[in-house]
Amino acid sequence: MKIDGTHRRTIWLADDGWAVEVIDQTRLPHAVVVRRLETLDDAAVAIRTMVVRGAPLIGVTGAYGMCLALRAAADDAALAHAVEVLAATRPTAVNLRWALDRMAAALASMPVNDRAAEAYRLAALVAEEDVETCRAIGRHGAALIREAYERTGKPVNVLTHCNAGWLAAVDWGTALAPVYAAHEAGIPLHVWVDETRPRNQGSALTAFELGQHGVPHTILADNAGGHMMQHGEVDLCIVGSDRTTAEGDVANKIGTYLKALAARDNGVPFYAALPESTIDWALGDGVRDIPIEERPAEEVTHMTGQAASGEIVTVQVAAPGSAAVNPAFDVTPARLVTGIITERGIATASREGLAELYPERQA
Ligand code: MRU
Repeated sequence: MKIDGTHRRTIWLADDGWAVEVIDQTRLPHAVVVRRLETLDDAAVAIRTMVVRGAPLIGVTGAYGMCLALRAAADDAALAHAVEVLAATRPTAVNLRWALDRMAAALASMPVNDRAAEAYRLAALVAEEDVETCRAIGRHGAALIREAYERTGKPVNVLTHCNAGWLAAVDWGTALAPVYAAHEAGIPLHVWVDETRPRNQGSALTAFELGQHGVPHTILADNAGGHMMQHGEVDLCIVGSDRTTAEGDVANKIGTYLKALAARDNGVPFYAALPESTIDWALGDGVRDIPIEERPAEEVTHMTGQAASGEIVTVQVAAPGSAAVNPAFDVTPARLVTGIITERGIATASREGLAELYPERQA
């Protein structure tokens, strides 16, 4: 997608052909800064500190982190160490583990001297596949937006939570891919952008990328979504996911579950858009089994933004001394999910629905 009219991706190889460059998402929307990653630790820190974030992008960064690690040392111990270090960075998005396992499985059987070159080839493949997968999610999801438009004859109001746009993937995104595809097809639409406290991925990142792409949108406080649904202002919700179980339970940014409850109470269809790499086929009950990342309390008690002077400042917004808790994700049970938009089509959120789209996974 575009920044200032120029097509950009979130991650790419530097001109020297080996270092990795990423857009530093901790600096958006105030500045577009490119960060260069040269080592395993650089990649791990970028994921942990959310310079890069979003489930698909974390996976691709993990894959490139393996390349950087193997460039330095490629024996079995180095390979295992790289997987361990990268896997420990963020626990909820299963795309990370998926990418690391895929890389490790392919590389372990290769001669040590060939591993680094093969890692680069594979990481590029994982990145390209992510683009095509997200594009396909967009195509399938856009049909829902078109249907809503044809039914009402009015611009379609889509509500989304957090950032599951191109900044969360290599390009296109998951939840926003249908929005971009529908927008490009000329279907009139408008996006309600949940602010997404505590880190404000909605107001900082989703609003930024929609604005850059010319998609009409409005930011709303997280607490306003239920009210908007009660008043008929939302035609459908589309969110992303960090881990989806084989039963169709969906883990996504904290607050997603509340939106699904409000959507159910108001008859608003609620979709999760995700690639197969987000499905954890080993898990059934998401509330019980999906590990939920706990992040620092300071993300709740403090906020960061740009002062009138242009300086980026962090201020305390909570009463000094009060404790705060910061679970980064929650799980929306399958019963509240109208459907799962994947690269293969739209499934009901159930074991049977997902089995129909991915029959080879059921063995
Ligand atoms: O903590 P973040 O910013 O990495 O959380 C991102 C989300 O919750 C996204 O909705 C999810 O990763 C899907 S991204 C296509």
